[in-house]
Amino acid sequence: MIDIHSHILPKVDHGSSSLEESLRQLKTADKFGVSSIVCTPHFYPFKESIDRFLSRRDKAFLELSAANNTDIKLYKGAEVRLTTGLGNNKKIRKLTIEDTNYILIEMPFSSWDNMLLNEIVNLQSMGLIVIIAHIERYSPIQVQKLEGLDVLAQINAYSLYSPLQALRIRRYVKKGLINFIASDTHIYNYLYSYRTLKRSRFFLGSTYDKFMANASKIIG
Ligand SMILES: [Fe+2]
Repeated sequence: MIDIHSHILPKVDHGSSSLEESLRQLKTADKFGVSSIVCTPHFYPFKESIDRFLSRRDKAFLELSAANNTDIKLYKGAEVRLTTGLGNNKKIRKLTIEDTNYILIEMPFSSWDNMLLNEIVNLQSMGLIVIIAHIERYSPIQVQKLEGLDVLAQINAYSLYSPLQALRIRRYVKKGLINFIASDTHIYNYLYSYRTLKRSRFFLGSTYDKFMANASKIIG
């Protein structure tokens, strides 16, 4: 099982406030059968530079990798908040998952204007493959705006247990809009995140296998 969206690195974002909390998340992931985790701490372009974020992320990645006492393979990534002008940053490629072309993008909760949506096109014109994080959080009206943009999309496993979001997921899966499922683990929900990720296999059947096959293509 591959988890492409996690907040498991110590002290990079609110996902984990210590190495001990990170190891607790790792141990739980291991218990539920996760074999690979892409570490995707939040990156907010309006809060810090890409270089500063990466130095914090990489330090935490080394710390967790050194202390990792499971067989889980760890990979580097980021959950990048989409903002106007993001695509103009020359260093944006450094935020992709493990130096591939895949980039995990978090949409804001505010309404999405054309300028913001155009940022997705800018990223794609640089050869990046945009994955929209937890697409089920956004309303069908918002999601409709993404449909012509050739993006990939990820869902959080625990959303399958929320009636509203599960309904959206069913619709989006039917339309072929979803490509990945992940935990989006944080220390406050890691047990639930990983339990539901494991159980999602029974909910989704062969669709789950497709999602995992897609994830394995990213980390090769
Ligand atoms: Fe996240």
